[in-house]
Amino acid sequence: DRGGFKHFMLKEIHEQPRAIADTLEGRISEGRVLPAAFGVTAEARFADVARIQIVACGTSYHAGMVARYWFEDILGLPTSVEVSSEFHYRNPVVSRDTLLVMLSQSGETADTLAALRMVRSRHPDVPVLAICNAPESSLVRESDLVLMTHAGPEISVASTKAFSTQLVSLALLLLAMGRVQGTLSEEIERRIVAGLEKIPALAQAALTHDSAILALAERLVDKQHALFLGRGVMFPIALEGALKLKEISYIHAEGYPAGELKHGPLALIDENMPVITIAPQNDLLEKLKSNMAEVAARGAELFVFADERTALASEERLHVLPVTSHVGRISAPIIFNIPLQLLAYHVAVLKGTDVDQPRNLAKSVTVE
Ligand code: F6R
Repeated sequence: DRGGFKHFMLKEIHEQPRAIADTLEGRISEGRVLPAAFGVTAEARFADVARIQIVACGTSYHAGMVARYWFEDILGLPTSVEVSSEFHYRNPVVSRDTLLVMLSQSGETADTLAALRMVRSRHPDVPVLAICNAPESSLVRESDLVLMTHAGPEISVASTKAFSTQLVSLALLLLAMGRVQGTLSEEIERRIVAGLEKIPALAQAALTHDSAILALAERLVDKQHALFLGRGVMFPIALEGALKLKEISYIHAEGYPAGELKHGPLALIDENMPVITIAPQNDLLEKLKSNMAEVAARGAELFVFADERTALASEERLHVLPVTSHVGRISAPIIFNIPLQLLAYHVAVLKGTDVDQPRNLAKSVTVE
């Protein structure tokens, strides 16, 4: 049931405020996360963890990439993230003090399960945490610790609300880890919790920019290519924006860290290459602005997803769309991703593709 929406994808995009609230529900009490939310043995297992290894595919991998910025920046906890198909076909070093975190909406992704089983057979002592949306899945059954994302069923092949709830779950993991290991001050913990509780309302507000995003989509629909740029925690969001656009609209899209422009992709830039940037008002904005000047000088049309404080105004071929009023370190990637989902959606609808069932793709990739 599409609930009055034209596609499941649009319905699921709009379900995000509720899905995020549901994922937080019952996991926080009196401003503090409950480590037992991860399982009764979580507290004991988290105590000895010295590094985190995240393994996932596709959109779930992008959520893991965001978490790496958070864990290292906020907790100082060494964190690696790798796509499952690479991780399980090499000989990764997994030390006993690692927490293996498997991210998967379906819990049935073949490569992710294979990676889990490989670690299990070689390093039976390493604790495995599944962050998953499917309670009956193989991944949940085979893991030691589990945190369910409460996104509800995701029907559209392109993942939207699963990603947002994975990020919220990873933020809960950060809080639990910081609490058990004593690496978060009570004040920062309370601030992060307060920030998390604001995300559903911020997500709701981000959805109100739909008609402005449709106007941008109209300018993209005839393009062959698009380049998404971000810095810091917005780099994985650039990758995710590009993935959403390519998989449902079939426009070739790439995400790049903005600082890599001069190392190759700048050669692609001309008036036929639209550039989408994710540009919150933070300490990386000045750097991003000089990257935008470089592409503008070569004729690219720029589409800038900003916040209301971002010091940038629209011009002839520079479209600045403020999509949120406030962003914190944790909420920013979750909130900025939502307009990119809508952008991909509108481009696909304008092109007339099969939005919920893109060609060649399956919802759950159960074979390698
Ligand atoms: C993209 C998409 C895929 C999945 C990937 C992993 O929109 O949906 O990239 O994210 O196939 O699937 P799960 O999370 O079920 O392991």
